[in-house]
Amino acid sequence: MFIFGAIFGCWDPVATLAAVMSEKSPFTTPTGRKDEADLAKSALAMADSDYLTIYSAYLGWIKTRQEGGYRSEIAYCQKNFLNRTSLLTLEDVKQEVIKLVKAAGFLSSTTANSFEGNRATQNFSFQEIALLKAALTAGLYDNVGKTIYTKSVDITEKLACIVETAQGKAQVHPSSVNRDLQIYGWILYQ
Ligand SMILES: *[C@@H]1O[C@H](CO)[C@@H](O)[C@H](O)[C@H]1NC(C)=O
Ligand SMILES: *[C@@H]1O[C@H](CO)[C@@H](O)[C@H](O)[C@H]1NC(C)=O
Repeated sequence: MFIFGAIFGCWDPVATLAAVMSEKSPFTTPTGRKDEADLAKSALAMADSDYLTIYSAYLGWIKTRQEGGYRSEIAYCQKNFLNRTSLLTLEDVKQEVIKLVKAAGFLSSTTANSFEGNRATQNFSFQEIALLKAALTAGLYDNVGKTIYTKSVDITEKLACIVETAQGKAQVHPSSVNRDLQIYGWILYQ
């Protein structure tokens, strides 16, 4: 994953995604408010990916924080069912990762923040999403599963997404943005 960051000079998303992958999700589900929390999460959902959804939530938080300060930040977290402490941890871990790759001589100060810096929206182009997904794939190299498409008789019925992995069949976690994904394709897991 870090070699990928070096080749493509995209250290900021690689460092953020490495932090996202190592920390627990900042999304919260307060008791009795699961539907609202799910809705808030799907509003931020990005590219059928839980990691990229967290990434998008993180970028929105950073932007709100820079532009609106503490109060907007709190409002953003409440509106989107995000745990601010988890986001702060994510940011710390990311900065640690950047420090490490700098110390290892991979990163000059000029190459940082080219991807995330001054981003007006969390609206990524197809190419950018492909780059982010490639970085995730590099990070989760061995953990690829094949999704099993189940033809539904009743189109309103939401079928759980089942994935074939090296360890056997598994169902996508109910908290995932992909819990009822029904396609022929591949999925990364951790
Ligand atoms: C937020 O996350 C922190 C650290 O994981 C945890 O201690 C805290 O209870 C969480 N707060 C809420 C409101 O979920
Ligand atoms: C997102 O960006 C694309 C071009 O990169 C543009 O066509 C589209 O309208 C934008 N969508 C939003 C919601 O900003």
